[in-house]
Amino acid sequence: MVKNDTVIGRGWTQRGGRPHAEAMALEQAGKAARGATAYVTLEPCAHRSGRGPSCSSLLCEAGIGRLVCAVEDPDPRTAGTGFAKLRAAGIAVEHCPSQASRESLAGYLVRARFGRPHVTLKLAISLDGCIALADGQSRWITGETARAHVHSRRAMADAILVGGGTWRADKPRLDVRLPGIEGLSPRPVILTRKSAPDGVEVIDAPSQIAELEAVQYLYVEGGAGTAASFLAQDLVDRLELYRAPILIGSGKPAIGRLAIENLALTHGRWTLAERRQLGSDVFEAYSRTR
Ligand SMILES: NC(=O)c1ccc[n+]([C@@H]2O[C@H](COP(=O)([O-])OP(=O)(O)OC[C@H]3O[C@@H](n4cnc5c(N)ncnc54)[C@H](OP(=O)(O)O)[C@@H]3O)[C@@H](O)[C@H]2O)c1
Repeated sequence: MVKNDTVIGRGWTQRGGRPHAEAMALEQAGKAARGATAYVTLEPCAHRSGRGPSCSSLLCEAGIGRLVCAVEDPDPRTAGTGFAKLRAAGIAVEHCPSQASRESLAGYLVRARFGRPHVTLKLAISLDGCIALADGQSRWITGETARAHVHSRRAMADAILVGGGTWRADKPRLDVRLPGIEGLSPRPVILTRKSAPDGVEVIDAPSQIAELEAVQYLYVEGGAGTAASFLAQDLVDRLELYRAPILIGSGKPAIGRLAIENLALTHGRWTLAERRQLGSDVFEAYSRTR
């Protein structure tokens, strides 16, 4: 919230979804909000919840002069009516679409569109596309810097998933072991049709991720069968590859069978989003083009 070139209030939506950013910023700004400009990532909500008035009502009551917003809310209870309500109250509304803002809301937008968490598939691969030796050895393909980066990515997820094969072969800890953020370890989940190990959540089909409670970001760490299952069902939004400068030859291919019959249909599905060197390895992130 800005007035006379001075920030008079800041806010961000709190864990659990409330309070919303606007309510926090308005509380800090107090009466100074009258005539101010509110800069928001997501369209202010237009629906009243059991936890108080809508953000568009709060902004109208506070008498702000202008709203600048990057992303229209796909929630059908708002979807443009937040903007309409503000305009009807005489507030200038500027909608400035931004890809960076959409990415910062990826979990929310994927949930709204597909009714499931945002899924990142991570694989550490050799130059020739293997994730393990033929006998299953995969520790370690990448170097320390890349592995530390993986831990920082784990910390941003609500849940982390591996297939039953990886669980049995590697007994991975699936936690965050970076000094200072160990407390951000995501919930471990296993994809298996077999019986569940104690204390770990299990799903027996990739489609069940719609049912994982309180998960907006899911981080899938393979292996090959699991990667193929998620990809075949078009459940991957972001592909993160850590490519090590090693050759394995006849090892385990990174991704299992995808049953692709027409090469032309494989093009245009992935867009390079990020690329950087991590020690001797290369990190590449691709977004699913939708
Ligand atoms: N370099 C890397 O980034 C990396 C990462 C992970 C793993 N790895 C390596 O990869 C190897 C394991 O890969 P993998 O392909 O054998 O195993 P995997 O993908 O970890 O697990 C395959 C298992 O996942 C379950 N599964 C997969 N698709 C399913 C579906 N649609 N519905 C229900 N369950 C499904 C089944 O579990 P059940 O058999 O339990 O029913 C299946 O046998 C290991 O050598 C490991 O070290 C490497």
